[in-house]
Amino acid sequence: MNTTIQQIKAREILDSRGNPTIETEVTLADGRRARASVPGGASTGRHEAKEARDGDPARYGGKGVLQAVESIRAAIAPALQGMDATDQRGIDHCMLELDGTAHKERLGANAILSVSLAVARVAARAVELPLYRYLGGVGAHRPPCPMFNLINAGMHSDAPIDFQEFMIVPRGLNPFSEALRCGSEVFHALRDVLRAKGLSTAVGDEGGYAPALRSVQEALDALLTAISRAGYRPGEEVFLALDAAAGTFYESDGDRRYHLRKSGDAALSSAELIALYADLVEGYPICSIEDGCADEDWEGWLQLTRALGKRCMLVGDDLFVTNPLFLQRGIEQGIANAILIKPNQIGTLSETLDTMRLATSHAYTTIVSHRSGETCDSFIADLSMLSPFIKAGAPSRGERLAKYNRLLEISV
Ligand code: PGA
Ligand code: ZN
Repeated sequence: MNTTIQQIKAREILDSRGNPTIETEVTLADGRRARASVPGGASTGRHEAKEARDGDPARYGGKGVLQAVESIRAAIAPALQGMDATDQRGIDHCMLELDGTAHKERLGANAILSVSLAVARVAARAVELPLYRYLGGVGAHRPPCPMFNLINAGMHSDAPIDFQEFMIVPRGLNPFSEALRCGSEVFHALRDVLRAKGLSTAVGDEGGYAPALRSVQEALDALLTAISRAGYRPGEEVFLALDAAAGTFYESDGDRRYHLRKSGDAALSSAELIALYADLVEGYPICSIEDGCADEDWEGWLQLTRALGKRCMLVGDDLFVTNPLFLQRGIEQGIANAILIKPNQIGTLSETLDTMRLATSHAYTTIVSHRSGETCDSFIADLSMLSPFIKAGAPSRGERLAKYNRLLEISV
């Protein structure tokens, strides 16, 4: 076994939205090789690590990643050649030093992450362990509970609802294969429910439907009907979850209100929005609310946590951006009780694992997550073996199923 890095090659590929992203292949001295590619978000947090985009309007509307590919060829590859691929931390540290900026804007978080993940995958191959076992050791023994985003709205579709995601969570179903089966059966039952209402069953960016439902309540009602029709018990076997992605409709520079523009133009204060969540939690079996307030509204987040923190998961996505510094601030201020884990928000595997460890040690629940723009890379499925939850979209579209099917492969 020779785990010395011999070659690193990167290329521009396209993600599930048809936007450019990076795929990197790492080859070891013994000839073993592995690839990884990185996803991209649409409702990105302001403090996420910066992905490098060419900005050339003549190519892919400025979204090309040729400069990031060049950074890997010219800067990262020569620096990592000869290093030991099993030294993940040393390799990630070397790339951080090479970049030298706070938000990875010199080399690009997309460039750095693609190398970081490909290194882990090839190292796992070299030591002949499945990736999840390499990442989590004997601790990685239980597949996570999936959170299926069955109705896509907000910035992920044209559906006239401001909240971004309406999920089902088969928390009471085991093993993983039964939870996945439930996700698929409810997804298909929901299609019939929507068709009967004369609504579209075309899907949004994360594989869920994007119907012209008139309200949040109507979306939740449709999910409850579908769960029952598929033969499952809401509130016992299957729960509901929301990702409001509230930062996408918050006016931070203006009146500091939440403007529900897609659905009638109400402008809610933080307190009014929190009252709406409290009503929803009262009336529906909701077990999780993500980004219930904007990442610029920490005061709102504090009130939200005080109001509902004992009743459901309050998940910081744009709020924490998988960054230990923001999570630490949340822990100190008693804000939220769960955190979304997206490796590309922070940019290296080592930092992602640090954030997960910090969360777990302070009883914050972790949810490993995809992005709205994905590839068929299933790295996060293996990573989710270290977490109680995974969020990877509806059980529809290949780039979403790549994650769920990988978990089947691990667990069955
Ligand atoms: P994004 O959305 O990948 O478009 O940022 C996913 C989420 O908000 O959870
Ligand atoms: Zn989110």
